[in-house]
Amino acid sequence: MKTIFSGIQPSGTITLGNYIGAMKQFTELQEEYNCYFCVVDQHAITVAQDKMELRKNIRSLAALYIACGIDPEKSTLFIQSEVPAHAQAGWILQCVTYIGELERMTQFKDKSHGKEAVSAGLLTYPPLMAADILLYGTDLVPVGEDQKQHLELTRNLAERFNNKYNDIFTVPEVRIPKVGARVMSLQDPLKKMSKSDSNQKAFITLLDDPKQIEKKIKSAVTDSDGIVKYDKENKPGVSNLLSIYSILEGSSIEELEQKYEGKGYGDFKGDLAQVVVNAIKPVQDRYYELINSEELDDILDRGAEKANFTANKMLKKMEKAMGLGRKERKRK
Ligand code: AQP
Repeated sequence: MKTIFSGIQPSGTITLGNYIGAMKQFTELQEEYNCYFCVVDQHAITVAQDKMELRKNIRSLAALYIACGIDPEKSTLFIQSEVPAHAQAGWILQCVTYIGELERMTQFKDKSHGKEAVSAGLLTYPPLMAADILLYGTDLVPVGEDQKQHLELTRNLAERFNNKYNDIFTVPEVRIPKVGARVMSLQDPLKKMSKSDSNQKAFITLLDDPKQIEKKIKSAVTDSDGIVKYDKENKPGVSNLLSIYSILEGSSIEELEQKYEGKGYGDFKGDLAQVVVNAIKPVQDRYYELINSEELDDILDRGAEKANFTANKMLKKMEKAMGLGRKERKRK
Protein backbone atom coordinates (compact mmCIF):
# COMPACT_ATOMS: atom_id res chain seq x y z
CA MET A 1 0.00 0.00 0.00
CA LYS A 2 1.38 3.42 -0.92
CA THR A 3 1.91 6.10 1.72
CA ILE A 4 0.57 9.64 1.97
CA PHE A 5 1.75 12.40 4.27
CA SER A 6 0.18 15.82 4.63
CA GLY A 7 0.15 18.51 7.28
CA ILE A 8 -1.73 21.66 8.21
CA GLN A 9 -0.42 24.45 10.43
CA PRO A 10 -2.38 25.33 13.58
CA SER A 11 -1.86 29.01 12.83
CA GLY A 12 -5.57 29.79 13.20
CA THR A 13 -8.81 27.92 12.53
CA ILE A 14 -8.73 26.22 9.15
CA THR A 15 -10.45 28.02 6.32
CA LEU A 16 -12.57 26.95 3.40
CA GLY A 17 -9.30 27.16 1.42
CA ASN A 18 -7.58 24.56 3.65
CA TYR A 19 -10.74 22.44 3.56
CA ILE A 20 -11.17 22.45 -0.20
CA GLY A 21 -7.46 22.43 -1.13
CA ALA A 22 -6.35 19.88 1.45
CA MET A 23 -8.75 18.32 3.97
CA LYS A 24 -11.45 17.31 1.49
CA GLN A 25 -9.01 15.28 -0.60
CA PHE A 26 -7.49 13.69 2.52
CA THR A 27 -10.75 12.03 3.47
CA GLU A 28 -11.10 10.50 0.00
CA LEU A 29 -7.49 9.30 -0.15
CA GLN A 30 -7.46 7.49 3.20
CA GLU A 31 -9.54 4.71 1.62
CA GLU A 32 -6.70 3.70 -0.71
CA TYR A 33 -3.50 4.80 1.01
CA ASN A 34 -1.59 4.37 4.24
CA CYS A 35 -2.04 7.96 5.47
CA TYR A 36 -0.20 10.13 7.98
CA PHE A 37 -1.91 13.42 8.81
CA CYS A 38 -0.10 15.89 10.98
CA VAL A 39 -0.80 19.05 12.96
CA VAL A 40 2.45 20.83 12.05
CA ASP A 41 2.79 23.02 15.13
CA GLN A 42 6.54 23.51 14.65
CA HIS A 43 5.77 25.20 11.33
CA ALA A 44 3.29 27.52 13.03
CA ILE A 45 5.98 29.00 15.30
CA THR A 46 7.97 30.31 12.33
CA VAL A 47 5.85 33.42 12.92
CA ALA A 48 5.01 34.72 16.41
CA GLN A 49 2.10 32.90 18.11
CA ASP A 50 0.28 33.57 21.35
CA LYS A 51 0.93 30.48 23.51
CA MET A 52 -2.66 30.06 24.76
CA GLU A 53 -4.02 30.50 21.24
CA LEU A 54 -1.50 28.03 19.81
CA ARG A 55 -2.44 25.34 22.35
CA LYS A 56 -6.10 25.90 21.55
CA ASN A 57 -5.51 25.82 17.79
CA ILE A 58 -3.49 22.60 17.94
CA ARG A 59 -6.28 20.72 19.70
CA SER A 60 -8.91 22.34 17.56
CA LEU A 61 -7.15 21.37 14.32
CA ALA A 62 -6.78 17.77 15.50
CA ALA A 63 -10.52 17.67 16.25
CA LEU A 64 -11.29 19.21 12.86
CA TYR A 65 -9.30 16.55 11.01
CA ILE A 66 -11.58 13.92 12.54
CA ALA A 67 -14.72 16.02 12.19
CA CYS A 68 -13.97 16.42 8.47
CA GLY A 69 -13.81 12.65 8.08
CA ILE A 70 -10.30 11.44 8.93
CA ASP A 71 -10.81 8.01 10.42
CA PRO A 72 -8.18 7.23 13.08
CA GLU A 73 -8.67 3.51 12.43
CA LYS A 74 -7.48 4.01 8.86
CA SER A 75 -5.08 6.96 9.17
CA THR A 76 -2.43 8.05 11.64
CA LEU A 77 -3.20 11.48 13.11
CA PHE A 78 -0.55 13.13 15.26
CA ILE A 79 1.04 16.37 16.43
CA GLN A 80 4.45 17.17 14.91
CA SER A 81 6.16 18.33 18.15
CA GLU A 82 5.23 15.00 19.79
CA VAL A 83 7.49 13.22 17.30
CA PRO A 84 11.00 14.67 17.89
CA ALA A 85 12.45 12.90 14.83
CA HIS A 86 10.88 15.65 12.67
CA ALA A 87 13.07 18.39 14.15
CA GLN A 88 16.13 16.11 14.14
CA ALA A 89 15.66 15.09 10.51
CA GLY A 90 14.81 18.71 9.65
CA TRP A 91 18.22 19.79 10.93
CA ILE A 92 20.00 17.15 8.86
CA LEU A 93 18.11 18.23 5.74
CA GLN A 94 18.90 21.90 6.43
CA CYS A 95 22.53 20.87 6.12
CA VAL A 96 21.97 19.59 2.59
CA THR A 97 19.91 22.63 1.53
CA TYR A 98 21.46 25.72 -0.07
CA ILE A 99 20.51 29.17 1.27
CA GLY A 100 19.78 30.35 -2.27
CA GLU A 101 17.12 27.65 -2.64
CA LEU A 102 15.38 28.87 0.50
CA GLU A 103 15.56 32.53 -0.43
CA ARG A 104 13.81 31.77 -3.73
CA MET A 105 10.69 30.35 -2.02
CA THR A 106 7.68 32.53 -2.83
CA GLN A 107 6.04 31.83 0.52
CA PHE A 108 9.15 33.10 2.33
CA LYS A 109 9.15 36.24 0.19
CA ASP A 110 5.42 36.83 0.81
CA LYS A 111 5.54 36.19 4.56
CA SER A 112 8.73 38.19 5.18
CA HIS A 113 7.87 41.09 2.86
CA GLY A 114 7.92 44.42 4.67
CA LYS A 115 8.58 42.79 8.07
CA GLU A 116 11.47 43.92 10.24
CA ALA A 117 11.86 40.89 12.50
CA VAL A 118 11.82 37.76 10.35
CA SER A 119 12.71 34.52 12.16
CA ALA A 120 15.39 32.23 10.76
CA GLY A 121 12.76 29.48 11.02
CA LEU A 122 10.63 31.18 8.38
CA LEU A 123 13.51 30.80 5.94
CA THR A 124 14.51 27.28 6.95
CA TYR A 125 11.04 25.77 7.28
CA PRO A 126 11.01 24.00 3.86
CA PRO A 127 13.68 21.43 4.94
CA LEU A 128 11.57 20.72 8.05
CA MET A 129 8.61 20.15 5.76
CA ALA A 130 10.80 17.87 3.64
CA ALA A 131 11.70 15.93 6.80
CA ASP A 132 7.99 15.58 7.70
CA ILE A 133 7.38 13.94 4.35
CA LEU A 134 10.55 11.88 3.85
CA LEU A 135 10.51 10.28 7.32
CA TYR A 136 7.50 8.18 6.36
CA GLY A 137 8.69 6.89 2.97
CA THR A 138 5.89 9.00 1.48
CA ASP A 139 4.84 8.30 -2.11
CA LEU A 140 2.27 11.06 -2.51
CA VAL A 141 1.65 14.47 -0.91
CA PRO A 142 -1.82 15.99 -1.40
CA VAL A 143 -1.58 19.79 -1.08
CA GLY A 144 -2.98 23.03 -2.45
CA GLU A 145 -1.15 24.80 -5.26
CA ASP A 146 0.69 27.16 -2.87
CA GLN A 147 2.81 24.25 -1.63
CA LYS A 148 4.01 23.11 -5.08
CA GLN A 149 7.35 24.92 -4.81
CA HIS A 150 8.08 23.43 -1.38
CA LEU A 151 7.31 19.97 -2.73
CA GLU A 152 9.70 20.49 -5.62
CA LEU A 153 12.41 21.34 -3.07
CA THR A 154 11.53 18.23 -1.05
CA ARG A 155 12.03 16.09 -4.17
CA ASN A 156 15.37 17.78 -4.90
CA LEU A 157 16.57 17.25 -1.32
CA ALA A 158 15.57 13.57 -1.38
CA GLU A 159 17.44 13.02 -4.66
CA ARG A 160 20.47 14.97 -3.45
CA PHE A 161 20.65 12.98 -0.22
CA ASN A 162 20.13 9.66 -2.04
CA ASN A 163 22.93 10.44 -4.52
CA LYS A 164 25.38 11.80 -1.98
CA TYR A 165 24.91 9.45 0.99
CA ASN A 166 22.71 6.43 0.53
CA ASP A 167 19.59 5.69 -1.44
CA ILE A 168 17.15 5.70 1.49
CA PHE A 169 14.41 8.17 0.53
CA THR A 170 11.36 7.65 -1.65
CA VAL A 171 11.05 10.69 -3.93
CA PRO A 172 7.42 11.79 -3.37
CA GLU A 173 4.92 12.91 -6.00
CA VAL A 174 2.68 15.92 -5.44
CA ARG A 175 -1.11 15.75 -5.83
CA ILE A 176 -2.95 19.02 -6.43
CA PRO A 177 -6.76 19.02 -6.80
CA LYS A 178 -8.02 19.90 -10.30
CA VAL A 179 -10.54 22.41 -8.95
CA GLY A 180 -10.16 24.45 -5.77
CA ALA A 181 -6.39 24.16 -5.54
CA ARG A 182 -6.31 27.86 -4.80
CA VAL A 183 -9.29 29.35 -3.03
CA MET A 184 -8.89 33.12 -3.00
CA SER A 185 -9.40 35.76 -0.32
CA LEU A 186 -12.96 37.13 -0.16
CA GLN A 187 -11.60 40.66 0.18
CA ASP A 188 -8.75 40.49 -2.32
CA PRO A 189 -9.46 37.77 -4.88
CA LEU A 190 -5.95 38.07 -6.30
CA LYS A 191 -4.52 36.75 -3.03
CA LYS A 192 -5.03 33.25 -1.64
CA MET A 193 -7.39 32.74 1.29
CA SER A 194 -5.24 32.35 4.44
CA LYS A 195 -6.21 31.54 8.02
CA SER A 196 -3.71 34.08 9.37
CA ASP A 197 -4.98 36.99 7.24
CA SER A 198 -5.33 40.05 9.50
CA ASN A 199 -8.65 40.88 7.81
CA GLN A 200 -11.24 38.49 9.31
CA LYS A 201 -13.62 39.21 6.42
CA ALA A 202 -11.13 37.72 3.95
CA PHE A 203 -11.73 34.12 5.01
CA ILE A 204 -14.39 31.74 6.27
CA THR A 205 -13.32 29.28 8.95
CA LEU A 206 -14.85 25.87 9.50
CA LEU A 207 -16.06 27.10 12.89
CA ASP A 208 -17.78 30.30 11.74
CA ASP A 209 -21.49 30.43 12.61
CA PRO A 210 -24.20 30.88 9.93
CA LYS A 211 -24.54 34.64 10.58
CA GLN A 212 -20.79 35.21 10.22
CA ILE A 213 -20.70 33.15 7.02
CA GLU A 214 -23.59 35.06 5.52
CA LYS A 215 -22.02 38.41 6.42
CA LYS A 216 -18.61 37.46 5.00
CA ILE A 217 -20.07 36.19 1.73
CA LYS A 218 -22.37 39.20 1.35
CA SER A 219 -19.36 41.51 1.76
CA ALA A 220 -17.12 39.49 -0.59
CA VAL A 221 -15.52 41.70 -3.24
CA THR A 222 -17.02 41.17 -6.72
CA ASP A 223 -17.37 43.74 -9.52
CA SER A 224 -19.93 46.17 -10.85
CA ASP A 225 -21.33 44.37 -13.92
CA GLY A 226 -23.73 42.15 -11.97
CA ILE A 227 -23.29 39.05 -14.19
CA VAL A 228 -22.63 35.66 -12.57
CA LYS A 229 -20.02 34.34 -14.97
CA TYR A 230 -16.69 32.55 -14.56
CA ASP A 231 -13.87 34.73 -15.91
CA LYS A 232 -10.79 34.47 -13.71
CA GLU A 233 -8.95 37.31 -15.48
CA ASN A 234 -11.67 39.95 -15.50
CA LYS A 235 -13.98 38.74 -12.71
CA PRO A 236 -11.70 37.13 -10.10
CA GLY A 237 -14.09 37.71 -7.18
CA VAL A 238 -17.17 36.15 -8.82
CA SER A 239 -15.04 33.32 -10.27
CA ASN A 240 -13.72 32.47 -6.80
CA LEU A 241 -17.26 32.36 -5.37
CA LEU A 242 -18.41 30.20 -8.28
CA SER A 243 -15.55 27.74 -7.65
CA ILE A 244 -16.41 27.46 -3.96
CA TYR A 245 -20.12 26.95 -4.80
CA SER A 246 -19.36 24.35 -7.46
CA ILE A 247 -17.02 22.28 -5.27
CA LEU A 248 -19.21 22.30 -2.18
CA GLU A 249 -22.49 21.62 -3.97
CA GLY A 250 -21.18 19.38 -6.71
CA SER A 251 -22.75 21.40 -9.58
CA SER A 252 -20.65 22.42 -12.56
CA ILE A 253 -19.71 26.05 -13.14
CA GLU A 254 -21.84 26.07 -16.34
CA GLU A 255 -24.91 24.85 -14.44
CA LEU A 256 -24.42 27.61 -11.90
CA GLU A 257 -23.96 30.28 -14.59
CA GLN A 258 -27.28 29.17 -16.12
CA LYS A 259 -29.03 29.07 -12.75
CA TYR A 260 -28.09 32.70 -12.05
CA GLU A 261 -28.56 34.09 -15.55
CA GLY A 262 -30.47 37.37 -15.30
CA LYS A 263 -30.23 37.38 -11.50
CA GLY A 264 -27.99 39.71 -9.50
CA TYR A 265 -25.21 39.00 -7.03
CA GLY A 266 -27.63 39.27 -4.06
CA ASP A 267 -29.44 35.98 -4.86
CA PHE A 268 -26.20 34.25 -5.80
CA LYS A 269 -24.42 35.24 -2.60
CA GLY A 270 -27.43 34.38 -0.42
CA ASP A 271 -27.62 30.86 -1.88
CA LEU A 272 -23.86 30.39 -1.65
CA ALA A 273 -23.94 31.30 2.05
CA GLN A 274 -26.53 28.55 2.58
CA VAL A 275 -24.44 26.04 0.61
CA VAL A 276 -21.40 26.81 2.80
CA VAL A 277 -23.44 26.59 6.02
CA ASN A 278 -24.90 23.21 4.97
CA ALA A 279 -21.49 21.85 3.98
CA ILE A 280 -19.83 22.65 7.28
CA LYS A 281 -22.74 21.98 9.68
CA PRO A 282 -21.95 18.22 10.09
CA VAL A 283 -18.27 19.07 10.59
CA GLN A 284 -19.16 21.50 13.37
CA ASP A 285 -21.52 19.03 15.07
CA ARG A 286 -18.81 16.35 15.26
CA TYR A 287 -16.20 18.94 16.27
CA TYR A 288 -18.16 20.01 19.36
CA GLU A 289 -18.59 16.37 20.41
CA LEU A 290 -14.85 15.81 20.21
CA ILE A 291 -13.11 18.97 21.33
CA ASN A 292 -13.17 18.34 25.09
CA SER A 293 -13.27 14.55 24.92
CA GLU A 294 -10.82 11.92 26.15
CA GLU A 295 -11.45 10.19 22.83
CA LEU A 296 -9.44 12.91 21.08
CA ASP A 297 -6.48 12.49 23.48
CA ASP A 298 -6.56 8.73 23.00
CA ILE A 299 -6.47 9.14 19.21
CA LEU A 300 -3.54 11.56 19.42
CA ASP A 301 -1.61 9.36 21.86
CA ARG A 302 -1.99 6.37 19.56
CA GLY A 303 -1.05 8.49 16.53
CA ALA A 304 2.12 9.81 18.20
CA GLU A 305 3.18 6.32 19.19
CA LYS A 306 2.78 4.97 15.67
CA ALA A 307 4.43 8.00 14.03
CA ASN A 308 7.39 7.90 16.47
CA PHE A 309 7.99 4.26 15.66
CA THR A 310 8.14 4.79 11.88
CA ALA A 311 9.94 8.15 11.98
CA ASN A 312 12.69 6.93 14.35
CA LYS A 313 13.55 4.07 12.02
CA MET A 314 14.11 6.47 9.11
CA LEU A 315 16.00 8.94 11.30
CA LYS A 316 18.43 6.17 12.27
CA LYS A 317 18.97 5.39 8.58
CA MET A 318 19.67 9.07 7.84
CA GLU A 319 22.18 9.33 10.68
CA LYS A 320 23.91 6.14 9.63
CA ALA A 321 24.06 7.26 6.00
CA MET A 322 25.78 10.51 7.03
CA GLY A 323 28.09 8.97 9.64
CA LEU A 324 26.52 10.70 12.65
CA GLY A 325 26.99 9.26 16.14
CA ARG A 326 28.66 5.94 16.82
CA LYS A 327 28.50 2.54 15.24
CA GLU A 328 25.88 0.38 16.89
CA ARG A 329 27.43 -1.89 19.53
CA LYS A 330 27.08 -5.61 19.07
CA ARG A 331 25.01 -6.97 21.95
CA LYS A 332 26.76 -9.72 23.92
N1 AQP B 1 -6.40 29.26 -0.22
C1 AQP B 1 -6.12 27.96 -0.35
N2 AQP B 1 -6.69 27.24 -1.32
C2 AQP B 1 -6.44 25.91 -1.46
N3 AQP B 1 -5.61 25.23 -0.62
C3 AQP B 1 -5.04 25.91 0.38
N4 AQP B 1 -4.19 25.56 1.37
C4 AQP B 1 -3.91 26.64 2.14
N5 AQP B 1 -4.55 27.72 1.66
C5 AQP B 1 -5.26 27.30 0.58
C6 AQP B 1 -3.70 24.20 1.59
O1 AQP B 1 -4.01 23.84 2.93
C7 AQP B 1 -2.99 22.98 3.42
C8 AQP B 1 -2.53 23.41 4.77
O2 AQP B 1 -1.87 24.64 4.67
P1 AQP B 1 -1.00 25.15 5.89
O3 AQP B 1 -1.86 25.50 7.01
O4 AQP B 1 0.04 24.15 6.21
O5 AQP B 1 -0.22 26.36 5.34
P2 AQP B 1 -0.61 27.46 4.34
O6 AQP B 1 -0.60 26.89 2.96
O7 AQP B 1 0.32 28.59 4.60
O8 AQP B 1 -2.11 27.81 4.76
P3 AQP B 1 -2.69 29.19 5.24
O9 AQP B 1 -4.14 29.02 5.55
O10 AQP B 1 -2.33 30.27 4.27
O11 AQP B 1 -1.93 29.38 6.61
P4 AQP B 1 -1.15 30.64 7.11
O12 AQP B 1 -2.10 31.79 7.03
O13 AQP B 1 -0.73 30.33 8.51
O14 AQP B 1 0.03 30.80 6.20
C9 AQP B 1 -1.87 22.95 2.38
O15 AQP B 1 -1.99 21.75 1.65
C10 AQP B 1 -2.19 24.12 1.50
O16 AQP B 1 -1.76 23.92 0.18
